[in-house]
Amino acid sequence: MQHHYSSIVDMKTSSSLAFFAFAYIYLYLAIEVASRAPGNSNMRTKLKISTMPNATTEAIDGECPESDGFFADAYQCDKYYECRDDTVIAEKLCPDGTVFNDFNPTHEKCDLPFNINCSQRPKLQDPKPTEHCPRLNGYFNHEDPNICNKFYYCVDGKFNLITCPDGLVYNERTGICSWPDEAKKKGCSSEELFKFSCPKVDNTIAAQHPRYLDPEDCQFFYVCINGEVPRRSGCKLGQVFNDKSGACDWPRNVPDCIEWYKGILTDAELEALEHPTPKSRPSTQPQIKRYKMKSSNPDIVKISETTPITN
Ligand SMILES: *[C@@H]1O[C@H](CO)[C@@H](O)[C@H](O)[C@H]1NC(C)=O
Ligand SMILES: *[C@@H]1O[C@H](CO)[C@@H](O)[C@H](O)[C@H]1NC(C)=O
Repeated sequence: MQHHYSSIVDMKTSSSLAFFAFAYIYLYLAIEVASRAPGNSNMRTKLKISTMPNATTEAIDGECPESDGFFADAYQCDKYYECRDDTVIAEKLCPDGTVFNDFNPTHEKCDLPFNINCSQRPKLQDPKPTEHCPRLNGYFNHEDPNICNKFYYCVDGKFNLITCPDGLVYNERTGICSWPDEAKKKGCSSEELFKFSCPKVDNTIAAQHPRYLDPEDCQFFYVCINGEVPRRSGCKLGQVFNDKSGACDWPRNVPDCIEWYKGILTDAELEALEHPTPKSRPSTQPQIKRYKMKSSNPDIVKISETTPITN
């Protein structure tokens, strides 16, 4: 090999090749060093190198937009810079899966991407996937596209499988559980999930968001939004949907569902649900803090709105 090589390349050519190779490696190393070196002066160089025209975002041209604070990178949503005295003192990356929250330069904050608009700085660090977690942190779809109502919540690469409340599906755009018609996920529409379509009705009825019983499950019913879009909703434990009144009711009032809770609740338990004995609490006792969904989606509240306490 060696012999063959030298036989076709004369000494002059090979020495100039060597020079170019050396120059190339030198340049490459110089660029690598410049792009890796921490610290202020090199950082400013790096910022200049990565700057392109028309970028509207913060740490541009290696200049700190303000003397002190934390500023988003112009191109990469999970990268930011710390400026002090008009100088970049650190280039930082958010934990994988989170992005820099640029709402307030005095706060160093990384958040899940749902409320942060990354459209102007769409680059992200390389993902570090673990089991069920495409990135170390965040909410992620179930791998099985047919499983619509479950998702993974990943923290530092450790996953939790979370199931949405009945009738809701995981919405990957917002990271919370939504009505299927809002999540608009392929294969996850109400019709596909529940095999229920809203019957045609006239406009007056449609405007009242008519309700229909779930033939499979006494506790559940469908609300047809504007008479067209079905949403599956449920009654609280112990109650069933009464098709006559269009509301949740006690099983004894709904002949078809009178036995629905047999084997699930005893008669005594049903009775206790219908006629709860109020436990008196000293009025000075602070209100018990209840677990709340980590979302402000008003539609999640609607579930309880559609389960009126009758009687
Ligand atoms: C960049 O800015 C120039 C002039 O301001 C404009 O003509 C051009 O369309 C912009 N390019 C992009 C990609 O926005
Ligand atoms: C994100 O910002 C871009 C431009 O700044 C805007 O066009 C787009 O509508 C925004 N997206 C959201 C979801 O707010």
